[in-house]
Amino acid sequence: MFDLAGQVALVTGSSRGIGLASARALGKQGATVILNGRNAVAVEEAVGLLREEGIAAHVAIFDVADVEGAKRVVDAKVAELGAIDILFANAGVQYRAPLFSVPQSEFERIVFTNLTAQWALGRHLAAGMASRGHGRIIFTGSITAILGRRDITAYVAAKSALHGVTRQWAAEFADSGVTVNAVAPGYIRTELTEALWHDEAFNAWLVERVPQKRWGSPEDIASAVVFLAARESGFVTGQILAVDGGTTSVL
Ligand SMILES: NC(=O)c1ccc[n+]([C@@H]2O[C@H](COP(=O)([O-])OP(=O)(O)OC[C@H]3O[C@@H](n4cnc5c(N)ncnc54)[C@H](OP(=O)(O)O)[C@@H]3O)[C@@H](O)[C@H]2O)c1
Repeated sequence: MFDLAGQVALVTGSSRGIGLASARALGKQGATVILNGRNAVAVEEAVGLLREEGIAAHVAIFDVADVEGAKRVVDAKVAELGAIDILFANAGVQYRAPLFSVPQSEFERIVFTNLTAQWALGRHLAAGMASRGHGRIIFTGSITAILGRRDITAYVAAKSALHGVTRQWAAEFADSGVTVNAVAPGYIRTELTEALWHDEAFNAWLVERVPQKRWGSPEDIASAVVFLAARESGFVTGQILAVDGGTTSVL
């Protein structure tokens, strides 16, 4: 099960963290994987690592927030490698500040990168998937779009809307062989949360609050991504799969 041989997967934001672990997991299942980020050196290093592990990995440098530039790079990759069957639209950025200290321009930047850019690249690739009768689109949502949390207002706005887009696109593509789902990670130890894992008070809160009493790992998310990318999950669409050690299910 979950054999992805012959399929091409694009994972945005995959030079490290959840994206890199997911690209590796998709590659281990046989997919050809395209890794992305803004820092060429970091993406090339990540691709080098995966190739050493026997994975067919390729580099695609673009900023998802430069929508037209992103489409150009992705189209060139399609011309080189063939159609993209799986999109894990995972690139995302955080901005932590109290509500009244957030400039509107920062709110708009975070919403653009975490929502509009995902929507635009997703729509660009979904057209081809629908015309071929098969595709998998997976967004990275967040448990903070299920439960409120202070000091991350733009992030929550964007991720909540992404959860909505996931359900709406499930309707758009229901009869075309394309499934649209999201993973909603709990607290995962990556560079994005580095400030939090150095914060003793936060760690004490986390082991109290998370039923499994631990941080998640990027690999915890990668397994869910493989499931949602596989042909075998074809009857699953419009779902937000929380991967959070029980945080959003248990009081
Ligand atoms: N870690 C968590 O606890 C957690 C929880 C819930 C949701 N998430 C979500 O999971 C996703 C991945 O997060 P992570 O924790 O793995 O973060 P991370 O370790 O900071 O990695 C983010 C990746 O995205 C790339 N990236 C950032 N902005 C980009 C842009 N504009 N265009 C292209 N690539 C970009 C980064 O590379 P460059 O900076 O070099 O471009 C990097 O490869 C995000 O959507 C995040 O919101 C994370």
